[in-house]
Amino acid sequence: LRLAVLISGGGSNLQALIEATKDPDFPAEIVCVGADTDAAGLAHAEAAAIPNFVVRPADYASRADWGAAFAAEIQSHDVDLVVSAGLMRILPVGFVAAFSPRLINTHPALLPLFPGAHAVRDALAAGATETGVTVHIIDEGVDTGPVLRQATVAVRDGEREADLHERIKQEERPLLIRTVREIADGTLDLAAVASAARAQ
Ligand code: GRF
Repeated sequence: LRLAVLISGGGSNLQALIEATKDPDFPAEIVCVGADTDAAGLAHAEAAAIPNFVVRPADYASRADWGAAFAAEIQSHDVDLVVSAGLMRILPVGFVAAFSPRLINTHPALLPLFPGAHAVRDALAAGATETGVTVHIIDEGVDTGPVLRQATVAVRDGEREADLHERIKQEERPLLIRTVREIADGTLDLAAVASAARAQ
């Protein structure tokens, strides 16, 4: 399975996927890494000699135009599955339509709880005693697509956002790897999950 990984930040999830794909038995390979900004994590792609590119929204007249350019760049690498792993930008509907349902995201909360860009902060502010991570199919909404896999993390008393996020990421990386493996080996059928969700 040919993967594109999309990032905006440090790319520790990307790096975990890169490590996983080094195992010759892993049923997927990363064929490109895309970013919307000069993400620090692009260095992981460089170090692993994976083609990578930045497509900046500021260079386009509209979000839709940006999404179309980003999608075209990804499609030029002939990808089977797009993995948003810390891409901190909402994908335009045209982009989603270009890849759906073979487009997944990892989010640091137990969706449908705490969608959006500040999931860890929001969970703490709500006094949640547990939170976690969700890998889901991306649909037209923000963190609303069908859930594929989740892992729970207990919140510690008085825990700070950065510490909790780091502990969530320790669960997030193996969960993302496992989910990608299950998609690649057919354990998870994205088309079936998406159509079941539509039928609800
Ligand atoms: C992850 O927790 C992801 O779910 C969230 O941002 C973080 C990105 O971390 N949206 P990294 O760049 O993979 O280290």
